Amino acid sequence: MEWKKYERKNKVETRIESEKENETKNEKTLFGGDKKNGVRIETERLLLRDLRKGDSSSIVENANNLKISQYMTLLPYPYTMADAEWFVNHCLENQDKKNRESFDFGITLQKVDNVIGVIGLNKINTLEGTATMGYWLGEKYWKQGIMGEASRAVLKFGFQELDLRRMDISAVIENTASNALIKSLGFVHEGVQRRKHVSKSTKNIHDLNIYGLLEEEWFSKEKKL
Ligand SMILES: CC(C)(COP(=O)(O)OP(=O)(O)OC[C@H]1O[C@@H](n2cnc3c(N)ncnc32)[C@H](O)[C@@H]1OP(=O)(O)O)[C@@H](O)C(=O)NCCC(=O)NCCS
Repeated sequence: MEWKKYERKNKVETRIESEKENETKNEKTLFGGDKKNGVRIETERLLLRDLRKGDSSSIVENANNLKISQYMTLLPYPYTMADAEWFVNHCLENQDKKNRESFDFGITLQKVDNVIGVIGLNKINTLEGTATMGYWLGEKYWKQGIMGEASRAVLKFGFQELDLRRMDISAVIENTASNALIKSLGFVHEGVQRRKHVSKSTKNIHDLNIYGLLEEEWFSKEKKL
């Protein structure tokens, strides 16, 4: 297929550029990070980066909100410092693994180091070439295109750098914002899992919309942008 040829060529060039950087700076990772700062993805307005120990208080400040946790599986409410520290430690353990099973990026505005949200690529299965994306953003940053910008960058990272071929995402049917965002990213609705989702914060049970995005679908959408 035409897209595959183009993408392969592109991918090889990307990796060679990174390897050149490795040779000259001896510090850069394949993903544009370095040993000190970890993996980093820059977009027009944002820096997505590996979480660090000092991030817990800004995570609590933004995540301790029932409007955020009500549609998430694992976010408790209230969301305490102990919850954030547990999460950051869990991420640090993952960052140390040679073959990472997940990337949880702290979302920061460029030049302001506070974490205003998190976007994750989890359940990475290199055998199947799949991963699941999830995210939340502090309420005062909603509806400014921030998660759209972060999601597009993470999809590119997943398809181009991790060589994935399919992304999964899901959202409870009442979650208007997330379902709108997912559709705007080009995900295809694949069905509804009835009474699948239980919210840790509200204990409510929800029907769950499931979506998938294939590498070739993402690539043809990217090409049009
Ligand atoms: C879902 C969430 C991450 C969206 O973040 P955001 O930065 O406000 O989203 P964006 O501004 O990038 O909007 C992306 C798209 O979704 C649409 N959208 C966002 N919020 C919307 C809303 N409340 N109602 C309808 N559409 C909405 C935007 O219009 C935009 O569409 P477009 O690209 O066609 O213009 C944010 O609302 C959130 O954190 N919610 C709580 C946690 C959560 O639900 N996480 C997801 C669990 S599946």
